[in-house]
Amino acid sequence: MSKTQSLEEKLQLKLALRKQNNSLRVLHDKSSLIDFCSNDYLGFSQTLNVKPSTLSGATGSRLISGNSSQFEQLESKIANFHQSETALICNSGYDANIGLFSCIAHKGDTIIYDQYIHASIRDGIRLSKARSFSFEHNSLPSLQKKLEQASGNIIVAIESIYSMDGDCAPLEEIITLCEQYKAHIILDEAHAMGVLGEKGEGLAQSLQLQDKLFARVQTFGKAMGCHGAAILGSETLKNYLINYSRSFIYSTALAAHSLNSINAAYTKLTSDDDISNLHKNISQFKSLLSDTLKSKWIESESPIQCFLIPGVDEAKRVEAGLQVKGLNSRAILHPTVEEGKERIRICIHSFNSAQEIKLCIDSLEELIK
Ligand SMILES: Cc1ncc(COP(=O)(O)O)c(C=O)c1O
Repeated sequence: MSKTQSLEEKLQLKLALRKQNNSLRVLHDKSSLIDFCSNDYLGFSQTLNVKPSTLSGATGSRLISGNSSQFEQLESKIANFHQSETALICNSGYDANIGLFSCIAHKGDTIIYDQYIHASIRDGIRLSKARSFSFEHNSLPSLQKKLEQASGNIIVAIESIYSMDGDCAPLEEIITLCEQYKAHIILDEAHAMGVLGEKGEGLAQSLQLQDKLFARVQTFGKAMGCHGAAILGSETLKNYLINYSRSFIYSTALAAHSLNSINAAYTKLTSDDDISNLHKNISQFKSLLSDTLKSKWIESESPIQCFLIPGVDEAKRVEAGLQVKGLNSRAILHPTVEEGKERIRICIHSFNSAQEIKLCIDSLEELIK
């Protein structure tokens, strides 16, 4: 009789496989190299003027003991800023998506999602009783095909700026198509928050399309430089989530300090010119791209600029080469992206200097053949 592998052995085997593929994930210390890696697009993590708080924790979930007038005032401020009927603060973008997608559709309904949708939405969909289909990335014909196969209430999940490609959803066209099928759109604005729109409101408001969406997810861990998220939508949606979203109901609420940080980030968005500096830097980066770099580049107007470097070893070689030049950026490997679509992911910030951007381009030029 063959001996069953112990759990410990099984875990070790899975790790050994990752090691063998040169794709073992390890935690890095915070780097002192030039930041072309973090999602802190506006540098807010270092510059927010956060009011101190004496409370270290919220003491319970919002429904038990964790709610406060501070939550409610901040939710009003967020809803106002985003021209939404309501906002519901969640502990993170991951929590928001898992809680929203797991409860929003029911048996007989259909969720259709872009093939490059974030893992938090995929995980929420997995917990849902609805049927689900993916459509080809940003492809309207593919979306239409899936809409034709859908039944029940239809939810379409898309992102504004895709986190591993940096490209933008054709929102207006997706809305027009979805209207024909009475499909409800949920837009994850994680990488557009603080980036698109005059004051960083996100993609929907930059096109004045916010009223055409069923819900939006704004996250605060990226350009906002802090932590947490908000789901924007109708009063009914907010009340429904308070009653049915398990990650909202069964988790300790954010502490007052986190709320102060989110508040400070919204105040800073409306008062500073970090967003125009960010776009100036993105334009500079793009203007320096040579034909060789352009041939590997995933076209993007956003702070996320990626160059396809197929093969784990190759992508890691470029990552290491950039580090030798004093630049911090990450190779993105399978399974985060499809096999053969490994890449180097450069994140541009408002605080990167013109010399740093030039150094980044020159180094990429030298390392990418
Ligand atoms: C598109 C998208 N949605 C949601 C999340 C999760 O947000 P958070 O980091 O706040 O959990 C991320 C973060 O990686 C993301 O890129």
